[in-house]
Amino acid sequence: MRAIVQRQYGSADQLRIEQVDSPPLPAQGQVLVKVAAAGLDRGTWHLMTGQPYLVRPAVGLRRPRNPVPGRDVAGTIVAIGPGVSRFTLGDRVFGVAPGSFAEYALADEKKLAAAPNSLTNTQAATLGISGLTALQALHNSGRLAAGQRVLILGASGGVGTYAVQMAKATGAEVTGVCSGPKIEPVRALGADHVIDYQIHDPIDGTQQYDLIVDIGGNRGIARLRRALTPTGTLAVVGGENAGKWTGGLGRQLRAAARSPFLRQRLVMVVSAERGSDLETLAHMADEGHLRPVLDSVFPLERAADAMRRLESGQVCGKVAIDVEEDASAA
Ligand SMILES: NC(=O)c1ccc[n+]([C@@H]2O[C@H](COP(=O)([O-])OP(=O)(O)OC[C@H]3O[C@@H](n4cnc5c(N)ncnc54)[C@H](OP(=O)(O)O)[C@@H]3O)[C@@H](O)[C@H]2O)c1
Repeated sequence: MRAIVQRQYGSADQLRIEQVDSPPLPAQGQVLVKVAAAGLDRGTWHLMTGQPYLVRPAVGLRRPRNPVPGRDVAGTIVAIGPGVSRFTLGDRVFGVAPGSFAEYALADEKKLAAAPNSLTNTQAATLGISGLTALQALHNSGRLAAGQRVLILGASGGVGTYAVQMAKATGAEVTGVCSGPKIEPVRALGADHVIDYQIHDPIDGTQQYDLIVDIGGNRGIARLRRALTPTGTLAVVGGENAGKWTGGLGRQLRAAARSPFLRQRLVMVVSAERGSDLETLAHMADEGHLRPVLDSVFPLERAADAMRRLESGQVCGKVAIDVEEDASAA
C-alpha cells in the first residue's frame, strides 16, 4: 500500500511516500480501515518531532516505533478481528487509528464510531482527536453548565474551533481568544465576544469566568486564576513552545498539584480516546451543533506540506489529508 513513512524524529522534510506492506489481519478487538482521509493535529506533530522528549519512552526512544504517522482517521471497515462487536464490514467510521497517513490502518474498535452522515470523510477525519479534547475539557474537566461564562484561550485552533461551538450549544456565554486574522471566523462559530491576544490581555482581571479552557499561550497559573470566579475552573489543555523536555505537561502538573488547596478547581486535561464520546461528537454534528472548520486539504503525497501548514501558525481550524482522492488519481 502507499503510506507516508518517517524513519527518524525530525522535521516534515523527512516524510516520504513509499510502498510498504499493508497492516496484518486485525487482532482481537481490532478492525482494518480503508482510509479515506486522515486528520492532522498537534499530537501528530509531536510524534513526528519526538518532542517533548518526555513522550519518547511511550512512542520510541531513538526513532518512532510506528514509522507511519497519523492518528485521526475516517474510512471504511474492510476486515474485522475476533471479538469485534460494534461494527461490520463496510461500515463508515471515524476516530483514532495509528498510522492513518496510509491507504489502510488498523484500529481498536473502541476508538472508532460510526461516521456522521452530515460530514464528508475529510471533515470526519478532523473531528476525532480535537473534538474529543474539546468535549472532555468543557464537560468532564470543566463541568460546563448553561448560563456560565467561559473563556477559550486558543479559540481558532483545532481544539478551540470545536470548543467554541460546543460551549455555545451548551448555552454558555463564550469569549474566544485568538490572533487578529482569525477573529471573524471565531465570531462566525458563535462566540459572543472575541479578544485579539496580540492587542488586549484576555486575563487582565477586568472579567471573571466560571471556566477557562486554556489551549494556547502558556500563561502562568497565578495570572489565569485572577480571571476566574472564586469557585471557577481552569482546564489546562496545553500550549506550544513550552520547552523540549516536558512541553505543556509541566504547567498542567503544577496546576493539578495546587488544586486540592484551593476553592477554585485547576484541572489537567488528558483526553481519552473513547468510542462513546466519539458517538456524542457524531450526534452533535448530525444535529447541526458541530461543524469542522477545514483550513486546508492535501493529497497523501503532500503530507509534508500539510505538516508545514500546521507548523505555520496560520491555520484556522483543521488540516486534513485526502487519501482516497489521491489514490484514485494515481
Ligand atoms: N491535554 C490533551 O489531552 C491535549 C489534546 C489535544 C491537544 N493538546 C494540546 O493543546 C494545544 C492546542 O492544540 P490545537 O490542536 O488546538 O493547536 P492549534 O490548532 O495549533 O491551535 C493553537 C491555538 O492557540 C492559539 N494561541 C497561540 N498563541 C496564543 C496566545 N498567546 N494566547 C492565546 N491563544 C494563543 C492560536 O491562535 P492563533 O492561531 O490565532 O494565533 C490557536 O487558536 C497543543 O499544545 C496540543 O499539544 C492537548
